Amino acid sequence: MQDDPIPTISLPDGTEVPVIGQGTWNMGENASEAKREIESLRAGLDLGMVLIDTAEMYAEGGAERIVGEAIRGRRDEVFLVSKVYPWNASRTGTIEACESSLSRLGTDRIDLYLLHWRGDHPLAETVEAFETLKASGKIRAWGVSNFDTDDMEELLAVPAGKKVAANQVLYNLSRRGIEFDLLPWCQSRNIPIMAYSPIEQGRIIRHPEIIRIAKANQATPAQLALAFLLERDGVIVIPKTSSAARAAENRDAVSLDISDEDWAALDAAFPPPSRKKPLEML
Ligand SMILES: NC(=O)c1ccc[n+]([C@@H]2O[C@H](COP(=O)([O-])OP(=O)(O)OC[C@H]3O[C@@H](n4cnc5c(N)ncnc54)[C@H](OP(=O)(O)O)[C@@H]3O)[C@@H](O)[C@H]2O)c1
Repeated sequence: MQDDPIPTISLPDGTEVPVIGQGTWNMGENASEAKREIESLRAGLDLGMVLIDTAEMYAEGGAERIVGEAIRGRRDEVFLVSKVYPWNASRTGTIEACESSLSRLGTDRIDLYLLHWRGDHPLAETVEAFETLKASGKIRAWGVSNFDTDDMEELLAVPAGKKVAANQVLYNLSRRGIEFDLLPWCQSRNIPIMAYSPIEQGRIIRHPEIIRIAKANQATPAQLALAFLLERDGVIVIPKTSSAARAAENRDAVSLDISDEDWAALDAAFPPPSRKKPLEML
């Protein structure tokens, strides 16, 4: 199955990234796990999952250090995503936070730098800092995370706000609220959605209907949960695993071919939204 290439998606600036990458939340928490975490990320890179998502928040910099180890000697094959804490996202704080992230990551540039969630600093200031970082080559593109439709509208109204390259939000079978408005809003503007917690941190793979439909398709429940998201236009998924075997399993989700009947059964078990729901966060 690993012969099927991973499809790519174009960011607004034309950069192609794979539709499945790797998350890193909870990595770097425990020194005894570091070797496994690094091996898992490297195995994922070998399989083409070259987008790695991290944040200054994860293990307070520990996850970025793990990523730095994993990508050492192979930086050019990686598309690196990190995030700034909202309370650091002032005009000068964003730049300092980025420089600290670069040093932990052991690199001179972040490919996509996100505001982790909205805080008190005016969006115009954060965007100005992002554009300064872009001009100095420290980041290649910037985006946001946990932004609902009204936040996105506000963002697009500030100077250079339209340069947003992605919005990373909670999206999986059990959290379909964004399908009502945010997802179509982003799709119509070619702003990719990065679906975080795509397997609901492991919880949805125990759902009986997911288990049944996965089995009928010779797939695992995690693969089915990922395939559901990969079916949507403009969506990138970033499952996290510290296991090289699971990284391979997750990567193979790109090869699933689910029948209309099975999609309908999943819709019945996890109905799409029929009205606006505020964006959920984890
Ligand atoms: N922007 C934000 O606010 C935000 C919020 C949350 C997450 N994120 C990003 O999104 C990434 C993914 O979300 P997440 O880590 O919350 O949750 P997730 O990817 O939905 O689930 C991760 C959990 O599922 C397990 N798992 C992974 N693959 C599996 C498989 N094939 N079979 C069974 N279990 C499997 C992992 O355990 P093992 O490691 O033991 O395999 C881990 O416990 C994060 O790591 C982070 O990079 C961003």
